[in-house]
Amino acid sequence: MFFQQMNFISLFIFHFYCSSLFQATKAEVAIGGITNPSTRIGKEQKVAIKLAVERFSTRDSVIFFNATDLNGTDALQGNSITQDLIGWGAKIIIATGTSQQVLVAGTTASGVKTPIISLMPSTFVTGPFTFQISYSDAAFVRCIADFVGLHNWRQIIAIYEDDALGLVLNTNLLLEDALRANGSKLEHCVVFQPQNSLSDWEKIVEVELQQMMQYESTVYVVLHSSEALALSLFKKAKELNMVSPRYVWICGNDITDLINSTLPPAFIANNMQGVVGIKSYIHESAEYQEFISSFQKMFSSDYGKNNENFYNPGVYAVRAYDALHAVSLASNESKMKNASLAEALCFINFEGLSGTIVPKNSSFNNNETKFGDYQIFGVFGGESEILGFWHKDSGFNRDMKNLTWWHYFVENQNATSPAGLRTLRVGIPAKPFWKNFVNVKNSSTINCSADVDNKLVSGFCIDVFYEAVKLLKYNVSYQFVAYTTINNSSCNISTYNDLANLVHSQEVDLVVGDVTILSDRSKNVSFTQPFLTSELVMLVPTSSTHIGWLSLKPFSRNLWICIVCILFCYIVLVWILEKDDGEADEDFHGPIWMQIAASVWILCNSIFLKIDQGVGSYHTKIVLLWWFLLVQVLLSSFTASLSSILVTEKLPLNINNLKVGCNAESFVYDYLKYTLNYKAENLVKINKADEFSKAFGNKTITAAFVELMVLKLGIGIGIGQLDRDPESEKSEESADSAKKIGFF
Ligand SMILES: *[C@@H]1O[C@H](CO)[C@@H](O)[C@H](O)[C@H]1NC(C)=O
Ligand SMILES: *[C@@H]1O[C@H](CO)[C@@H](O)[C@H](O)[C@H]1NC(C)=O
Ligand SMILES: *[C@@H]1O[C@H](CO)[C@@H](O)[C@H](O)[C@H]1NC(C)=O
Ligand SMILES: *[C@@H]1O[C@H](CO)[C@@H](O)[C@H](O)[C@H]1NC(C)=O
Ligand SMILES: *[C@@H]1O[C@H](CO)[C@@H](O)[C@H](O)[C@H]1NC(C)=O
Ligand SMILES: *[C@@H]1O[C@H](CO)[C@@H](O)[C@H](O)[C@H]1NC(C)=O
Ligand SMILES: *[C@@H]1O[C@H](CO)[C@@H](O)[C@H](O)[C@H]1NC(C)=O
Ligand SMILES: *[C@@H]1O[C@H](CO)[C@@H](O)[C@H](O)[C@H]1NC(C)=O
Ligand SMILES: *[C@@H]1O[C@H](CO)[C@@H](O)[C@H](O)[C@H]1NC(C)=O
Ligand SMILES: *[C@@H]1O[C@H](CO)[C@@H](O)[C@H](O)[C@H]1NC(C)=O
Ligand SMILES: *[C@@H]1O[C@H](CO)[C@@H](O)[C@H](O)[C@H]1NC(C)=O
Ligand SMILES: *[C@@H]1O[C@H](CO)[C@@H](O)[C@H](O)[C@H]1NC(C)=O
Repeated sequence: MFFQQMNFISLFIFHFYCSSLFQATKAEVAIGGITNPSTRIGKEQKVAIKLAVERFSTRDSVIFFNATDLNGTDALQGNSITQDLIGWGAKIIIATGTSQQVLVAGTTASGVKTPIISLMPSTFVTGPFTFQISYSDAAFVRCIADFVGLHNWRQIIAIYEDDALGLVLNTNLLLEDALRANGSKLEHCVVFQPQNSLSDWEKIVEVELQQMMQYESTVYVVLHSSEALALSLFKKAKELNMVSPRYVWICGNDITDLINSTLPPAFIANNMQGVVGIKSYIHESAEYQEFISSFQKMFSSDYGKNNENFYNPGVYAVRAYDALHAVSLASNESKMKNASLAEALCFINFEGLSGTIVPKNSSFNNNETKFGDYQIFGVFGGESEILGFWHKDSGFNRDMKNLTWWHYFVENQNATSPAGLRTLRVGIPAKPFWKNFVNVKNSSTINCSADVDNKLVSGFCIDVFYEAVKLLKYNVSYQFVAYTTINNSSCNISTYNDLANLVHSQEVDLVVGDVTILSDRSKNVSFTQPFLTSELVMLVPTSSTHIGWLSLKPFSRNLWICIVCILFCYIVLVWILEKDDGEADEDFHGPIWMQIAASVWILCNSIFLKIDQGVGSYHTKIVLLWWFLLVQVLLSSFTASLSSILVTEKLPLNINNLKVGCNAESFVYDYLKYTLNYKAENLVKINKADEFSKAFGNKTITAAFVELMVLKLGIGIGIGQLDRDPESEKSEESADSAKKIGFF
């Protein structure tokens, strides 16, 4: 009996021992959920979490889950719900909702050292107890930038709904950097403040869209958007004809997740043609298929009656599922390593359905190891066609489809511009001074400014422009706009300075023409590389009247007489010295006229040949030396004097007091007036190239200043009658050697 009792007791003890052993290995975790079933994504997340609880809660590792729904967007709810859940016994909280609600919940939970997992899409400013499961936006923005770069779109406009925490702003800055790295730029940002009702949205969206149309870029990237904004945005954009081939819309998970659910197929077919979706790519696996089928079942039973008839999970739902998976692993881990749940979460690293899951509690860590892959698709008809895939290292897959659907539209519309650049307005001078540079046919009909057909425009600068455009990787459509640059009080463009300033005032996108690069012009606009150099030259009419007697001019008459006398004296001197010298030339022994001729010959000889050629006496040699020196001095003075006469005789002596002509519309007038200090009354503005010769002809002007390049091209100013003045040209050259011609 006793033994029997002992047996019973030992059995009991054994059983007790076993169950305590069993208790020790059993992991339990109480998870609180803050859910938001007022949106489609919130509903999906709630269903996915519930599915995960069912899936990962086993006999050995029990998960208790208690979710509380948010009601509206009031941020303080995050606080009260978190406190209730912690009161209930939650050891960790999974939070969805607006970013403020999650932030408030995170602060409350951190206060009592309870970790919280945020399912917010954007990179979140986190504390040690707030963990991030979602991918960072760094990959998303790089994918966008690559896509934009791939299509050579130069600038884009970002659209986002603000969340008051500046989280999207952070994404926006990342995007700006990524775009810059690929040679594009963010032209403008459209920020929407969260609204309460759908009708508010429509008004605001309409106003913003109309403003967006004013910008050059027609590539719109929707960075972050709520369901309500997405609905209003595409509806209004379609009404304003902004969902058309001229515009490109790129959107991320926020909107692609809503395709076919909140945005039903009919809405997509009507309002979202050509929209490009960038969607996190989830690798197809057996587990994922299983998840989808159980998700569909649970979603239809929970919300099927609730006007929801599309049951597929989106990316955010898959992430929520992975988040719960991470918590359940961390719970096992913390039990095994005797660590807190927060510590355990830091060691978690596993392959979830949506990729590698590494919960993070550090803030702003852009060195993300967990970049996602993305799938690119385009909406075409009622269908979405997969165009390709993007991976952070390899970029787009090689066989990425080339947006045929997009080209289809573009070709139909005859638009050759890449989206992102509307037709460029190219300013040109309508009635330019020198027609070889820019020539506009039928320009007499242009009053102040007019759009002109490409066929009517020709000239050297236009050819350079065409060649430059050919070098671009993409087609550019442009419209020439001709402006009259002749002084005309009724038009506001009267000089080339005004023409250049049109670029600054954004009336035109660029100016093509014989626009000289000047320092005051480059303050407001930037020039291309110069393709012609130019200098200022002065033109004066020449006269050939006194050329015949010009060679006598260097010496005065008295000097000439003097020279003749000296020559005579030398002849006599040489004759006297030589005639009695025995060693002298035998001519000196002949008749007298022969002896004189010999003297002259010796004098000439001494200049051009050897000084003592045929000379007998040393006295003669000394005389000849003096003669030689005299001739050298006379010769050099003659040459110098003659050349200076050749120059100065033709020049008006003091140009400052004579009338000079210059091109009315170019910088030359101002340059002469302000830099070279010519008097205004002496400057004559010439409006047409052929008036130069007329003005010279009727003596209105005595000189003219033109640009050298114009002379080189010999542009119709009757250059035969005019001469370039070498001295003036030289001096101007040093002053103006930097003057070049370019277009903007
Ligand atoms: C949600 O809040 C509104 C007022 O803000 C209230 O009328 C409604 O009863 C709340 N719903 C729930 C389910 O608590
Ligand atoms: C869930 O938590 C709430 C407090 O947030 C509590 O009132 C409720 O009883 C809990 N539900 C269960 C089933 O424990
Ligand atoms: C993340 O959480 C762990 C555990 O609480 C903590 O030791 C660590 O400092 C946290 N990291 C950051 C960057 O806050
Ligand atoms: C964009 O920039 C990244 C990094 O600089 C580069 O790897 C990628 O090839 C670029 N993409 C395009 C389309 O230029
Ligand atoms: C946690 O551990 C238990 C028993 O060790 C195991 O049955 C369960 O699958 C584990 N949970 C996960 C998510 O791995
Ligand atoms: C677990 O850690 C706590 C303190 O962190 C310690 O008191 C306890 O003894 C540890 N248990 C085991 C089994 O190591
Ligand atoms: C980024 O992360 C990788 C892998 O964890 C590491 O090797 C690298 O040093 C990190 N770089 C920076 C700048 O933190
Ligand atoms: C949306 O529905 C259409 C038509 O039913 C289908 O072709 C398309 O693949 C669906 N899109 C997504 C993202 O599931
Ligand atoms: C795009 O691809 C289609 C076939 O898929 C081809 O016919 C077309 O020429 C391609 N267009 C460009 C611009 O590469
Ligand atoms: C483009 O425009 C021209 C004339 O404007 C027209 O003849 C041609 O058919 C158009 N091309 C397409 C693809 O519509
Ligand atoms: C140019 O003017 C001529 C005569 O004034 C006219 O016949 C011709 O049609 C005009 N050309 C254009 C393209 O306007
Ligand atoms: C001289 O010719 C110019 C240009 O043709 C003209 O403007 C000016 O009136 C003329 N002057 C005289 C005095 O004829």
